[in-house]
Amino acid sequence: MAIVGLAACSSSDSAAPTEEELATSVPSSAPASKVVAKTSDVPVGSVFKFTDPNSGIPAYILQPAAGTFIAYSSKCTHQGCIVEAYPDASGFACACHGAKYDSVNGAPDEATSKSLTATPLAKIALTIEGDQISVA
Ligand code: FES
Repeated sequence: MAIVGLAACSSSDSAAPTEEELATSVPSSAPASKVVAKTSDVPVGSVFKFTDPNSGIPAYILQPAAGTFIAYSSKCTHQGCIVEAYPDASGFACACHGAKYDSVNGAPDEATSKSLTATPLAKIALTIEGDQISVA
């Protein structure tokens, strides 16, 4: 009876994946970036709204100076409502309790910091390749 058990183990070893199969099944360590906008979608001094593919919530890309792109999550750091960008790209406001954030650094204004103890909006890392703007 013990011999039968060994034979079964031996046959399952032959089903082990080959090195080639393992190499193709191991995911790359570099995360794939996801294109979220074109640089032409965000003229200098404007704001562009997109859905962050990592969180599924709205986010904003700004170009405060030519060639400088920054992005923030729209999730208010007070209690998580979605902030809206001012049309002139000068900042963000939250309708839930009145938080206001700066567009240059995502920081809450002084009143928001004191009364709501909000922290800066979460920054989203961007990659610019040609005319494509991506998030990791
Ligand atoms: S959740 Fe935005 S101000 Fe309270």
